[in-house]
Amino acid sequence: MPDSLKIKGFEVYQGFLSPEEQELLVQEIREVARKAPFFSPVTPSGKPMSVRMTSAGRLGWVTDRRGYRYEDRHPDGMPWPSIPASVLKIWNAVAASERAPDCCLVNFYGETAKMGMHQDKDEIRFEWPVVSISLGDEALFRMGNPERGGKTESIWLKSGDVVVMGGDARLAHHGVDRIRFGSSRLLTHGGRINLTLRVVG
Ligand code: SIN
Ligand code: FE2
Repeated sequence: MPDSLKIKGFEVYQGFLSPEEQELLVQEIREVARKAPFFSPVTPSGKPMSVRMTSAGRLGWVTDRRGYRYEDRHPDGMPWPSIPASVLKIWNAVAASERAPDCCLVNFYGETAKMGMHQDKDEIRFEWPVVSISLGDEALFRMGNPERGGKTESIWLKSGDVVVMGGDARLAHHGVDRIRFGSSRLLTHGGRINLTLRVVG
């Protein structure tokens, strides 16, 4: 494996979810989005993000002119739905944690969506891993280093893959360069869903 993919605590479980498990997850996420609709966030500088997002759990991750943060309500005022059971099952299987995640961020990537390099660092505690679940179209995931810059390495994440970023990889920079639109038939209209599970603390 190339270097940044070898950071201790970075794990890729390829094909972790069966097609049936992926279908069930999509149904559960549809239900989450029915209760807490996807919205189009802007960064604190006012730049629209290309992904649409919502959350499940005690806390949801949001961004707007007021900054990146966790909130206990959707921007429209409703509480976030609970994290679906099948999502928690994945956390229990790969995160080996007594602690349940506080947040399941749901990102939807349409044909041209991407996610710039960033660290997941809006949490209070960092001793639990970030678990990321890929559904639908393939995504070119770029992995960097805990410090800014340096060499990066990319891998294509496919539907059903699960990524764990714990240990030395917990605060590594990462992003999504692009998706391969139409590469999966899981979502009727194409695109990609990424679920990110985090303990906020
Ligand atoms: C993220 O880092 O928030 C998303 C990662 C992904 O979409 O795979
Ligand atoms: Fe992230």
